[in-house]
Amino acid sequence: MSKPIKLIILGAISGFICMVLLVWLCSRSSAEKESYALIRLNNGQLIPNIGLGTWAMDDDQAREAVKEAVSVGYRHIDTAWRYGNEVGVGQALKELFESKQLTRDDIFITSKIWNTFHSRQLAVKGIEESLKNLGLDYLDLALIHWPTGFKAGTDDIYPRRDDGSIMPSDNDIVDTWRGMEDLYRNGLAKSIGVSNFNIRQLERIIRQASIKPSVNQFERHPFLIQQELVNYCQNHSIAVIAYSPLRQADPQLLENPVLKDIAQTHNKTVAQVALRWQIESGVIVIAKSSRKERLIENMDIFDYQLSDQEMKRISTLDQNKRLIDIPGIQSHSEYPFDN
Ligand SMILES: NC(=O)c1ccc[n+]([C@@H]2O[C@H](COP(=O)([O-])OP(=O)(O)OC[C@H]3O[C@@H](n4cnc5c(N)ncnc54)[C@H](OP(=O)(O)O)[C@@H]3O)[C@@H](O)[C@H]2O)c1
Repeated sequence: MSKPIKLIILGAISGFICMVLLVWLCSRSSAEKESYALIRLNNGQLIPNIGLGTWAMDDDQAREAVKEAVSVGYRHIDTAWRYGNEVGVGQALKELFESKQLTRDDIFITSKIWNTFHSRQLAVKGIEESLKNLGLDYLDLALIHWPTGFKAGTDDIYPRRDDGSIMPSDNDIVDTWRGMEDLYRNGLAKSIGVSNFNIRQLERIIRQASIKPSVNQFERHPFLIQQELVNYCQNHSIAVIAYSPLRQADPQLLENPVLKDIAQTHNKTVAQVALRWQIESGVIVIAKSSRKERLIENMDIFDYQLSDQEMKRISTLDQNKRLIDIPGIQSHSEYPFDN
């Protein structure tokens, strides 16, 4: 073979190799997009700082959403006994484990005891029911869903008097917390925490507990920032999980001019700004979606940062505007929202 032909062939081969390398590098950088971080809880356990919420999904919707979410990178799922979809979540997990797409260690699962399970024994029973529904041996995080215990032993999820008010449980939240500690000690939950607790209630638990809550999960979005509660939790090493971060797709939030302006600057959506703002506030966030494109959108928030000035602009949107409450619990002695 003559020298010029050899040179041409060599050139073609190295050109081809360079092209393959380039394609590989490009596909690598898009596949290895920046993703969520793991936050260390006060007991050493790790939790992904973004998760999928499942409120208002039925079993079928939850099964499909969990599979979709895992396929696009979610590793943290939030459910509850009350949501009535733990069986669907569990079916998805079973499929994912059996098809070897996940192992149990790869995914963080939270569930919560409902208000009719408020006592040391009932708290354990509640989580045992959740585990049975989910088909799991343990939860990564078990929460007391609300501080407001309801009368146990009726079949009602909301046992009410004739005037519509809720019939309270006569158990103290500290007694219920003891049940959470039992769950932690016997390995049914790797971490334990609370939800919808105010500072006064957290203080009582911390003072009397032998195990401190790892988490407080509560409503938080730019219209309800709850900075005092966030500061209290963060100063006491209690991780904050923000629920309803999109205010359940409230158009007033999704079309807010300040959020829209910030979103445009970064070529992101308002939802992505609202979620990123939580992450940059040191808060873990759970958003619900049943749509694949939104699951992807809500996860695509780790490749940019909000400036200090943008964070300050978002903090001016606070209106103390709460969305989530339970009708009939306002006269309960542990009603948490009397601020
Ligand atoms: N501890 C508690 O007491 C408590 C209370 C409430 C909620 N939670 C938990 O927190 C989770 C999240 O809160 P949430 O479900 O109340 O409300 P959310 O996540 O603020 O909003 C969910 C709504 O927003 C829509 N959505 C999702 N992504 C969107 C996007 N990128 N753009 C526009 N719309 C979008 C969803 O519709 P599609 O599904 O159609 O996308 C759904 O209607 C719950 O699912 C639950 O797990 C806990």
